[in-house]
Amino acid sequence: MAKMRAMVVPNPGGRFRMEERELPEPGRHEVRLRVAACGVCHSDAITVEGHMPGLGYPRIPGHEVIGVIDALGSSVEGWQVGERVGVGWFGGSCGYCRNCRRGDSFACETIHGATGVTRDGGYATHMLAHASALARMPEALDPVASAPLLCAGITTFNALRNCGAAPGDLVAIHGVGGLGHLGIQFAARQGFRTVAVNRGRDKEELARSLGAHAYIDSQTGDPAQALQAMGGAKAIIATVTSAEAMQAISGGLGVNGTLMVIGAVGGLTVNSLDLLGKRAAVRGWYSGTAADSEDTLRFSQLNAIASMNEMFALEQAQAAYDRMMSGKARFRVVLKIGA
Ligand SMILES: NC(=O)c1ccc[n+]([C@@H]2O[C@H](COP(=O)([O-])OP(=O)(O)OC[C@H]3O[C@@H](n4cnc5c(N)ncnc54)[C@H](OP(=O)(O)O)[C@@H]3O)[C@@H](O)[C@H]2O)c1
Ligand SMILES: [Zn+2]
Repeated sequence: MAKMRAMVVPNPGGRFRMEERELPEPGRHEVRLRVAACGVCHSDAITVEGHMPGLGYPRIPGHEVIGVIDALGSSVEGWQVGERVGVGWFGGSCGYCRNCRRGDSFACETIHGATGVTRDGGYATHMLAHASALARMPEALDPVASAPLLCAGITTFNALRNCGAAPGDLVAIHGVGGLGHLGIQFAARQGFRTVAVNRGRDKEELARSLGAHAYIDSQTGDPAQALQAMGGAKAIIATVTSAEAMQAISGGLGVNGTLMVIGAVGGLTVNSLDLLGKRAAVRGWYSGTAADSEDTLRFSQLNAIASMNEMFALEQAQAAYDRMMSGKARFRVVLKIGA
């Protein structure tokens, strides 16, 4: 019997361990993937640290997956063995429950699975995915380097195209990390007047080379005032991992501006006067559906948007995860797994 290998989290807070398992057969509506690469995301901490109650263990994390279909479930139509696909956080949708019929398939009541959290993900040589969770991958994109587009990419791409700003508007990308370095590229290519904001000047040159038209060092001055001096931001895409840093910039919104909260920072305090005086809003955003992933991949290919990655082997998942959590990776960490 053929086997697969996976780096599993044995229990909440446990260290990764290699497991060899029987190669799973796809269910009726599933496909089996041979995984080429899987990105390592901050949000994997939900699985590794056990931040959500009721998760089953052992669990295989990983929601930035690129692979090749190597087996089809009996009811799967429209997909072929050998096709290259991406799978993100979105675990699939049924299409007929109340939320799906309303157009919110991310909240599907039937499948309701988050890849790498409530179902096994891509830190493995093989993985099962619901057919509705698959995104088609443009041939021209590198299958390994592109893995982060399935979470860091889709999240910033989708937040930007849903933030209410129009081409020419001032949009701030707060944080020049894994998400931020892609967010800058997307914002500039989506036509926004793009300002990158980070502490210190270390990443200024890089931010400008990625397309930022301006740069604000949030350590030397008040970043909110700096944005107001530029006319006020139509949107701030807040990818930082610090609530204090997010709070400090929220006063930089212009009239009808929106703070798009992307970073998972827990409690966040915002000055009500900053909001009501500007009719401004604070809005959370998570990644998107398989269709959004497909849009992200295609937009990235058309506009030469690329993730900067540090590569690790599957067996090095613990080191890769630790490196990502250190905040020192430049910029995303990717497990290179198969061909
Ligand atoms: N909403 C979603 O769907 C979604 C999807 C994916 C990820 N996320 C979340 O997005 C966040 C960012 O992920 P990432 O991979 O981009 O992380 P990352 O690569 O570690 O980048 C973190 C950024 O936050 C900045 N930062 C950290 N601590 C700070 C502080 N005390 N003051 C000011 N700035 C600070 C860092 O600045 P330096 O460069 O100075 O270190 C860096 O720019 C995480 O919370 C992750 O869980 C959300
Ligand atoms: Zn993620």
